[in-house]
Formats: sequence, structure tokens, C-alpha cells
Amino acid sequence: MNPKIKIEDVKLYYGDFLALKSISMDIPENKITAFIGPSGCGKSTMLKCINRMNDLVEGCRIEGLITLDSEDIYSKEYNVNRLRKRVGMVFQSPNPFPKSIYDNITYGPRTHGINDKATLDEIVERSLKQAAIWEEVKGDLNKNAMALSGGQQQRLCIARALSVEPEVILMDEPTSALDPISTGKIEDLVTELKKEYTIVMVTHNMQQASRVSDKTAFFLTGEVVEFADTYDVFSKPQDKRTEDYISGRFG
Ligand SMILES: Nc1ncnc2c1ncn2[C@@H]1O[C@H](COP(=O)(O)OP(=O)(O)OP(=O)(O)O)[C@@H](O)[C@H]1O
Ligand SMILES: [Mg+2]
Repeated sequence: MNPKIKIEDVKLYYGDFLALKSISMDIPENKITAFIGPSGCGKSTMLKCINRMNDLVEGCRIEGLITLDSEDIYSKEYNVNRLRKRVGMVFQSPNPFPKSIYDNITYGPRTHGINDKATLDEIVERSLKQAAIWEEVKGDLNKNAMALSGGQQQRLCIARALSVEPEVILMDEPTSALDPISTGKIEDLVTELKKEYTIVMVTHNMQQASRVSDKTAFFLTGEVVEFADTYDVFSKPQDKRTEDYISGRFG
């Protein structure tokens, strides 16, 4: 089977600095792929390449090939708006808009031209249900999103990402700002979501990577040292550096 996302010999420069050194990996569909590794090793940089968020960074240059369903996402013909609709993103700290819950969820669909009230209502309900927050907020969708708890805000941000029906969801340390209960909710949610979506998640939490992901990539100073089934990475790492990292000897 073709991978959902293919990364081939990707090099990324921030000015003169080579932040990603020839990365190749195949990210499978309907699975959770975790990126682990010490701070500054290129996890977020790699993640952001997948929806071309790095296009916005001045002096950033990328070489190599990234495909989504076998289409080169960096080709001149590829429409970046279409890419961002297909590849959603959730960030480390919850970042809802300072607007109502309803407006947070309908923002994306509206920018894609959906204005029909009944359709928007449906999208709001479906997205909030998928993100396992509907029951908590359905009574007051006009409430300002900033008045929700951190864990609720993060689930709202996941609902917002889901509202435009993406195929891939990129998550950069989505639970690092949350308490263990909210973290557990997000982990359950992510596991549920992989039935319909391809998920790529950066995490500093080894237990989290081993609990929820199917594949794990271990990054070190801009390289992927090891990429394999999560069980194998954690039970029989092939590289000494992976073993040292997952056993807590550095990083
Ligand atoms: N916009 C930027 N301009 C210049 N250098 C950058 C930029 N963003 C990241 N870098 C550098 O690229 C390298 C990789 O950064 P990146 O944010 O991808 O690391 P990370 O693995 O996500 O780290 P962390 O776990 O701390 O989030 C670091 O050396 C960082 O300083
Ligand atoms: Mg990062």
C-alpha cells in the first residue's frame, strides 16, 4: 500500500543552518505516527513541512520530496490552501480564537465558502462530538472559548481542526500543557480519531508515544535515527542512541 505521506531525502535550512539532514520516511494512513527526541532536534520543523507552515518563515529553504497521496505538495501547481484543508494542525498550547465556541468551529468552513446556517450547525455538532467535548459545551455554544479550561480548549482546537474534514492531523505536543485527566481524554480521542484520520504527533512523553502510536520516529540533531513500529522501537531499539534516549539516559 502507498503511504499517506512520503518524505524523501528532505533537507531544511533556516538561513545557513541545516535543521533537517536528509530525512526519509513513509507515514501510513489511519495510523498514529509519533515523533520523539530531545529538544531542538527538528521534530516541529519536520511536522510543519507536512502542511508547508515553514513557507511563512523567512530564510527557510527545503529540498527533497514530500508527497500526500502521491502528489508532490511542494510542486508549483499544488494549491497551499487545499493542502491546509487536507492537513490540519493542533499546537502545543491551546490557541482558540477569542470568540464563541460556535464561531471557533465555523471559522474554517466559512473561509471555505460554507455559509448555510443549517450546514454550519451540523458541522459544529459533528466536530464537537468527534473531539469529545460536545456534552460539555452543547448548552452554551455562544460562550467565549477563552472561558473554557485548558483541556477543554485543546479539545475545542481539535474540533476546529476537524471542522474542515481534513485527512491528516498534525499535533505538536498537544498535551504538554494539560493535566493527567485531560491528557488521558486527548489520548483516548486520538486513538478514536485514527480510524478516520492519519495522525502525526510530536511528544516528549515516552509513555504517551508507546501508549498511543503505531509508528515512532526518533529524531536526533536533525536526523531520524530510527523509524519503526512503536513496539519495536521501545522493546528492541536497533540504535544505541535510541536505547539511551528511551531509557532516559539523555534528553
Ligand atoms: N524559525 C526558525 N529560525 C531559525 N532556526 C529555527 C527556527 N525554528 C527552529 N529553528 C532551529 O531548528 C532546530 C530544530 O527546531 P525544532 O523547533 O524543529 O525542534 P524540536 O525538536 O521541535 O524541539 P522542541 O522539542 O524543543 O520543541 C533548532 O536548532 C532550532 O533552533
Ligand atoms: Mg517542537
